[in-house]
Amino acid sequence: MSSHLSSRLIATARAFDSPVATANIPVYRASTVLMRDLDEARRVGEAVGRGDRHASSYGTAGTPSTMALMDAVVELEAPGHDCRAALMPSGLSAISTLLLALLGPRDHLLVPDSVYGPTRAFCDGMLTAHGIEVEYYAPAIGAAIESRIRPNTRLIYLESPGSYTFEIQDIPAICAVARRRGVLTAVDNAWASPVFARPFDWGVDASVLPLTKYWSGHSDVLMGAAVVRAELWPRLWATVRGLGLCVGGDDAYLILRGLRTAEVRMRRHQENGLVVARWLASRPEVARVLHPGLPDHPQHALWQRDFSGASGLFAFELTRAATGAHGAGFNPATAALCERRRHFGIGYSWGGFESLIMPARLEGGRSVEPWTGGALVRVHIGLEDPADLIADLEEGFEAMRAVVSRGA
Ligand SMILES: Cc1ncc(COP(=O)(O)O)c(C=O)c1O
Repeated sequence: MSSHLSSRLIATARAFDSPVATANIPVYRASTVLMRDLDEARRVGEAVGRGDRHASSYGTAGTPSTMALMDAVVELEAPGHDCRAALMPSGLSAISTLLLALLGPRDHLLVPDSVYGPTRAFCDGMLTAHGIEVEYYAPAIGAAIESRIRPNTRLIYLESPGSYTFEIQDIPAICAVARRRGVLTAVDNAWASPVFARPFDWGVDASVLPLTKYWSGHSDVLMGAAVVRAELWPRLWATVRGLGLCVGGDDAYLILRGLRTAEVRMRRHQENGLVVARWLASRPEVARVLHPGLPDHPQHALWQRDFSGASGLFAFELTRAATGAHGAGFNPATAALCERRRHFGIGYSWGGFESLIMPARLEGGRSVEPWTGGALVRVHIGLEDPADLIADLEEGFEAMRAVVSRGA
C-alpha cells in the first residue's frame, strides 16, 4: 500500500468478505452476534477477552463496520507503530476513558493549563474524586516539565495547540523526558488530525482523536477514538469493555465516509484559514491573531518543525479600544461582531465544512496562566470562499464599532 496519506485515506477500510463488491463497506447493525456452535462461542469469547480487535461475541465488542474504522484509525494515526485503537461515543468519552484506563488512586497527572475545558472539568471532578492528583502546567514548559515530575507521576497529558489560546507544546522534548523518567504521555490530536500531525513519531504513548471533528468533517456525527501503544491495549480494552462503551455501525459508516476527503478538506481549511488570519492581523480592531501558522506566533518554529499544516481553527484578540467598556466574553460588543453573520454560525463543535465564530470565556478556566488579555474570539474557518468570510467579518466589525460608539 502507498505510504502517502491521501492514498491511504482512500485505500483504508475497504476490504470485506462479500460476493458483491461495493466501493464502501456496508453498514452492520448488531446487538446479537450469532455463532455457529458452542465451540465457536467459547473461542470467540476467549478472543474478545484477550483483546483481539477482530473478534466479536456481542454488539458492544464490534461489527465489521466498527472494526474497519478501528483499523483505519490505527493505520492513519500511527503509521509504522504497533498501536491499537478503541472507538467511543464522543471525543470527550475517548479522553475520559483513556485517563481512567491509565490512572489509579494516588497517581499524579500533569495537564496543560490550556486543555479543552471539559477535559479539565473531568480531571478536577471525577479523577480527583477517584484519588488522582491533578496538577496543571504552563503549556510552553517544554523539557522543564521534568521539575514537575514526582515519584507518583504516571501520565503527562498534552494538547497542542491549546484550546482557545493555541500554544504549541514541545511534545518531542516532553516525551523524551517522560520516557527517561518512566512516565506515560497522551495527546489530544483534535486540531491537526493525522493529516497534519503524527503524534506517535513525536514519541507519545497514546493519543485521542475526536472523530467528530475533521474525520467526520460534516458536523453530523459524534465519535472519538483512543489510540495506544500495544502494551497499553489490555488496560484500555478492559476499561472500554467494563464501561460498556461502543459505537453504532451507522455512525462508523459516516466517519469512514468523511475521512476519504479529509486531506482535501484540511488543505482548504488551512488555505482559507491563513487568508482570513492574515486579513484579521491587518485590522485595527485586532490586537493579535493566535494562529500557529503565522510567523509572529510565539511557537511558530515549533509548529513548522512538528506539524505539516494548520487546520481552520484559531483565535484573535480584540483591542481594548475595539470593545470599549465591554471587555471579554459574551456582551453587546462581541454579540454585534458574532451575531447575524451570513457565513459564520455560532457554535462550539468545530471541524465541519462550515465557518463558526464564538467569543471565548476563559474566566476561571486557567489556574497557572490566567488570561489577562482583551476579548478573545475563536473562529473555525470552513470551506466557503474566504472573500465572503472576510466581507462578513468586516460587517461584524462595523456592527461592533456602532455598538461601542453608541455606548450601548
Ligand atoms: C480539543 C478538543 N478535544 C476534544 C473535544 C471533544 O470532542 P467531542 O465533541 O467529540 O466530544 C473537543 C470538542 O470541541 C475539542 O475541541
